Amino acid sequence: MASLALPTPIPAASRPEAPLCPPPPARQRPAGCEQLNEDQLRAVTAPADGALIIFAPAGAGKTLTLVHRATWLVGRGLAAASVLCLTFSRKAAAELRGRLPPAAAGVEVCTFHAWCLRLLRAFAAELGRPAGFSLSSSAQQIELIRQALEEFQKQQGGGTAGPSTAGTGTQARKSQSVMAACRRFQRAIGEAKLLPDGAPAGGASDKAPAASGKLLETELGAFIWRHYNDGLRKAGLVDMGDLQRFALTLLRTPHVAAAVRGRYRHVLIDEYQDTNLQQLAIVRAICAKEPGAQTVGVTVVGDDDQVWGSSTLAVPLPPASML
Ligand SMILES: Nc1ncnc2c1ncn2[C@@H]1O[C@H](COP(=O)(O)OP(=O)(O)OP(=O)(O)O)[C@@H](O)[C@H]1O
Ligand SMILES: [Mg+2]
Repeated sequence: MASLALPTPIPAASRPEAPLCPPPPARQRPAGCEQLNEDQLRAVTAPADGALIIFAPAGAGKTLTLVHRATWLVGRGLAAASVLCLTFSRKAAAELRGRLPPAAAGVEVCTFHAWCLRLLRAFAAELGRPAGFSLSSSAQQIELIRQALEEFQKQQGGGTAGPSTAGTGTQARKSQSVMAACRRFQRAIGEAKLLPDGAPAGGASDKAPAASGKLLETELGAFIWRHYNDGLRKAGLVDMGDLQRFALTLLRTPHVAAAVRGRYRHVLIDEYQDTNLQQLAIVRAICAKEPGAQTVGVTVVGDDDQVWGSSTLAVPLPPASML
């Protein structure tokens, strides 16, 4: 693990005559790295094949270091298209793209979700989807869940579909409570799909992942999970939660994994503290060492003081040892 620190200006009065550890002369530094401090330079020029994890405080120059590392890797002969920079928000991806110098043109910069979407489009048939599949809207999701509730009620002989629809009064009150139940299931499904073991084997989504919460463990919940995911597939749709878990499913398919690993030589992640365990599994799958295959290096930068703690969706920061 390396740490970065911005250079602290030394007051003139206490400035030593000769620094104990003088920085290397500018001419020995790789082109474009003149402004970096010693820690940053060490991170940028660390061996390319391994896993490098850098934690540093806000504003310490983590993104700057990442940008220089991507550029340095290309300067050392890696094909720009084989260098992948991942981040979380579209805003962060746009900023990263804007900070890459022309020498790094062609480096792939995108969000985790965008990268997963590209992978899913390339291998859509493996998931039983058309290549031009769409992302479902919230309204489409609610409608699928509503249909599932209705179907369940029918199969149960017309009874109510769970506590939220019990004791219906007027028609308006009834449809309000059905909507509320649909939203609860929508939220539960979304959260379940983010669980580390949420990636379905072979693309089939018969069962919600273990530990997805009480709501999906009931008979009704299991029915809705199945009906909802079948409905998405039949309509040629995926939802946001499917992006990462289907990407993981694909990456566990040998020929897809081989194609992906053949394409990349280095993966860099900005804002690593925002990575969840599913995203970590994706990066590990891309960078997994295969006998006889080329090595895919990984560099991550993050700030462990910025880890989320209170969100119900938050997952623990993956420890460095898991990389
Ligand atoms: N060695 C340096 N010399 C001069 N400026 C630097 C140096 N390192 C970082 N900076 C400047 O400090 C500012 C913050 O850098 P950067 O955005 O890379 O930090 P960060 O650690 O990624 O911040 P955040 O935690 O907000 O993501 C930028 O304007 C950057 O150019
Ligand atoms: Mg940054």
